[in-house]
Amino acid sequence: MIAGDLLEVNVFDPDLYANGDPGQNGLPVELFVRLREGAPCVRLPCEIPGHEESAWVLSRYEDVSAMLREPDRFVSGSGVTMRATHTTVSEDGGKPAMITMDGQAHVRNRRLVNRGFTPPVVRSFEAHFRTIATDIVHRAVDLGTFDFVGEVASQFPLHAICDLLGVPDADRPALAQWTNTLTTPTDPEYAPTPAEFFNAMEHMWAYGLELADLRRRSPGTDVMSVIVAAADSDALSEDELMGFVFTLAAAGNETTRNSASHALLALLQRPEQLAWLRERVDRIPDSAIEELLRWSTPVIYIRRTAARDVEIAGQQIAAGEAIAGFVASANFDAGEFPNPLELDLARQPNRHLTFATGPHLCMGAHIARLELRILFEELLSRTKDIQLEGPIDYARDSYVRGVKRLGVRVS
Ligand code: HEM
Repeated sequence: MIAGDLLEVNVFDPDLYANGDPGQNGLPVELFVRLREGAPCVRLPCEIPGHEESAWVLSRYEDVSAMLREPDRFVSGSGVTMRATHTTVSEDGGKPAMITMDGQAHVRNRRLVNRGFTPPVVRSFEAHFRTIATDIVHRAVDLGTFDFVGEVASQFPLHAICDLLGVPDADRPALAQWTNTLTTPTDPEYAPTPAEFFNAMEHMWAYGLELADLRRRSPGTDVMSVIVAAADSDALSEDELMGFVFTLAAAGNETTRNSASHALLALLQRPEQLAWLRERVDRIPDSAIEELLRWSTPVIYIRRTAARDVEIAGQQIAAGEAIAGFVASANFDAGEFPNPLELDLARQPNRHLTFATGPHLCMGAHIARLELRILFEELLSRTKDIQLEGPIDYARDSYVRGVKRLGVRVS
């Protein structure tokens, strides 16, 4: 029997995350504990304009993980968020992208895009990423006091993904602005009006084709050049190219920047963990990167749709109903992570769901890990001390766990 008040909580409320308590990692951790213990699968309202009205909310690690690993029962084709209009679903007037594809279409798209991400291509970017990170970190550190998000966390992933995609320097600020608006549409600072959202979408799509055309005419070593060089059945259609650029720009920019920002705050709040990391700054251990990824959980929930009638945790879910697997709860489930609310940079094993799991496992996971490692290696080796300068400013959104500002002073 589910306690009555648990049937009414609004875990989709963007203000819950905008006003999160930094002392609790900005997350409604107690509410998630109550859901995991008292209502691990429960239908909850989602009272946000422009969003679907309700979804089955999964909060336990094992249920979220199982849902992501069963694409036949839980499909992505009706959208992976609760937004009512999906920019990557053709039936909604969007452009198709692998993140919202199922079955063979997904396999095909992922295979074609993957060809641009071969290990040699990714390896060739490591040295280059370090040059970008060194530049960005040095410039910021010279300022002494600065906004970590604006100067570092948003800059490095932006330039990294744009280099990967072959986006010319001059186009990058506009691309950053469109992805902010498109991925965080419930934050009035990023999307003041619905019209701005649609405007950004049109620009992003048009840019996808423009970039494809540029890389066709003047190929480089980037991923887009590899993708547009494919012919016949291996070529992405125009619509797929538009969806691809949108997905990659959004996925590559927003998540990594938020991950780095949540991670830095967590370290500054825990001097002993920061000291542990500083001792290993020559090569930050993988366990530290995994723990910072678990801790930061930049995607709050992942939505799927029941392909047929199913049962989860004793609840009957009808075909067509939306299900939201809350990664922000699963990643802190004591059933999987001992002392889940402790940041433990040596934690092992660490099977966090930050990059999802199953067939849609994040395609940029190895790139994001590399970026985070390089960024913290550069930042920590270039500074002796970092202090917080003002409160963290969280974005108003319940899908992307964004950070808008994080003031720091360094010496
Ligand atoms: C910390 C950084 C990142 C996080 C937390 C993250 C998270 C995720 C998650 C949760 C998904 C699965 C979504 C779903 O199944 O509905 C995903 C998919 C994806 N991500 Fe990432 N991502 C990150 C960085 C990146 C980067 C840097 C790239 C590109 C270089 C990227 C490209 C993609 C792509 C293309 C997909 C779709 C994969 C598919 O549908 O098969 N991501 N990401």
